[in-house]
Amino acid sequence: MTEDPRHPPSVMERVRAAIAHHGPISFAEFMDISLYGPGGFYERPPIGERGHFITSPHVHPVFARLLSLALRDLWDRTGRPEPFRLVEMGAGDGTLAAQLLEQLAGLPLAYSAVERSPEARVRLAGLRIRVAEGLGDLGPELEGCVLANELIDNLPFHRVRRTSEGELVELRVAAGPSGLAEVEVPAPAEVERASPQLRRGEEAAVSLEALRLIEELAGFLTAGYVLLIDYGDASGRPAGPVHGYRDHRPVGEILRQPGGTDITAGVDFAAILRRAMELGLEAHGPVTQRDALLSLGYGTWTEAERERQGELLRSGAGAEAVRTWSGRNRADLLIDTEGLGGLNWLLLATPGLDPPGWIG
Ligand SMILES: C[S@@+](CC[C@H](N)C(=O)[O-])C[C@H]1O[C@@H](n2cnc3c(N)ncnc32)[C@H](O)[C@@H]1O
Repeated sequence: MTEDPRHPPSVMERVRAAIAHHGPISFAEFMDISLYGPGGFYERPPIGERGHFITSPHVHPVFARLLSLALRDLWDRTGRPEPFRLVEMGAGDGTLAAQLLEQLAGLPLAYSAVERSPEARVRLAGLRIRVAEGLGDLGPELEGCVLANELIDNLPFHRVRRTSEGELVELRVAAGPSGLAEVEVPAPAEVERASPQLRRGEEAAVSLEALRLIEELAGFLTAGYVLLIDYGDASGRPAGPVHGYRDHRPVGEILRQPGGTDITAGVDFAAILRRAMELGLEAHGPVTQRDALLSLGYGTWTEAERERQGELLRSGAGAEAVRTWSGRNRADLLIDTEGLGGLNWLLLATPGLDPPGWIG
């Protein structure tokens, strides 16, 4: 597509150009253009209360505080290498990175962030950490830890459906007379192999990119752990419907406004576990975020905050007591299984490392 830099094409025009060029596009290509292309949803970080959705580090710093205990434990279990190399993938605007740097002060930490979004990379660079566009830019290998919070669900995925005749079809994106439309084509073998089990009429997201990322990580990590935190399911059945997200609300019409909404689906942890184990990694979990945070001491933290609230009230610092109370209430979203507590934590490890108690 030849572009006039003074009038860059809209995201919808880019999608239409791709369809005109090579026919109905896979949903993964549609996502790639809509989320990560010029003008796409992730061109600048969309997270936070004033953005389109919130993630755990935006809810309350106790998330990073407890996560830092898990990371210290992983550092211990890998023999306390110096430096402790920690790579955060899909680090967004750096909210979690900034909090973890504070919590892990005192450790010989070498923190790197890998981010696809150009403006997010600019913000991350402000934290004076190493920032890269891809894992490969950080060198050939890693002894340390990789962390990714809500990355996998945003990697471009294919969509499949089991028809009433029992055939597995891929749902592609075509240009219809009044907008974009879904069309069915026979599912390619690679997509079919990676698909969860579907009954007739059921649909699922199939993330070949997630499996490629696991392959990349297995080649990159010589010794250490990968901690993946995401929505999803490990049953081998569809892990949740594909949906858009905008202004803190789900959006059903995912083809209507490319670039204007997030696109996501629950992660098929069964496929990830299978591929990780085929590649020789060991897997622990997944467990719910609720269980992980409770094992890491959430209950002790909230009780200490409650006592502090009481002391503040007794000493006449009412406004501060109310702030403590409201912080505690807000933090409870992190362990509420109807909220962020329903996220899954999955730990992958190179062979021979002990499973930590907090992952169950
Ligand atoms: C849902 S956001 C999560 C951001 C952050 N981890 C948080 O918890 O707030 C997903 C992030 O992953 C980034 N991303 C998507 N694909 C990526 C990839 N292949 N490599 C690195 N970052 C990626 C997006 O740009 C986005 O910033």
